[in-house]
Amino acid sequence: MSGPAQVTDGLRAILSHPAVYSGFQKLLGAERSRRKLSQEHLRVQPGDVVVDVGCGPADILECLPRDIEYHGFDLSQRYIDAARDRYGDRGIFHCADVQDLVGEALPPCQLAIAIGLLHHLDDPAAMGLISSLYERLAPGGRLVTLDGGYWPGQSRIGRALARRDRGQHVRTAEGYAALVDARFSRVEVIRREDLLLVPYSHVILECTK
Ligand SMILES: C[S@@+](CC[C@H](N)C(=O)[O-])C[C@H]1O[C@@H](n2cnc3c(N)ncnc32)[C@H](O)[C@@H]1O
Repeated sequence: MSGPAQVTDGLRAILSHPAVYSGFQKLLGAERSRRKLSQEHLRVQPGDVVVDVGCGPADILECLPRDIEYHGFDLSQRYIDAARDRYGDRGIFHCADVQDLVGEALPPCQLAIAIGLLHHLDDPAAMGLISSLYERLAPGGRLVTLDGGYWPGQSRIGRALARRDRGQHVRTAEGYAALVDARFSRVEVIRREDLLLVPYSHVILECTK
């Protein structure tokens, strides 16, 4: 029998409050990490349509240019309400489960992002989402994901923190790569431990259509 995709007890329950989540992220250095992610991996171009699945309170918008069309999707109504309150003039926000994001539920886009989402999804849900995003990406468009992960030789702190995550599907770098739709023409798997103030082990996928 499979367990819940997301553990929400104790401290992890408190993180479901948007302000607490954003504050906790700030403490870990998430603002600097988002800036690096944006500059080095997202590389958003003016005029891009950006689809952000599992957008949470949409804090990533602090690091994205204004002249884009941004669509944020998240399962949590609380996070979506917080995103609308704060960034209502900068994007369109939808409360939805990834299982419902098929076909025209997603807009055609140049960039799809899923920051901290895949480790909340089991393989069929993650693969289904990636396939749906592929369908809506423009030729040459990119999907970028980032999640905590495991790999041989990673720091002990990084491994310990990844194990404590709310998501129940933290994978190896190869495990994340195996989720990617074979139709993508190029897939880069990047391992980093320098994004946060603590040596958290992140796996980034950059997939080009
Ligand atoms: C670790 S948070 C990341 C939030 C945001 N991307 C960020 O970087 O701060 C993961 C997000 O995925 C959302 N999520 C988890 N399972 C989901 C699902 N099945 N469908 C849509 N969103 C989901 C959660 O509600 C949460 O906001």
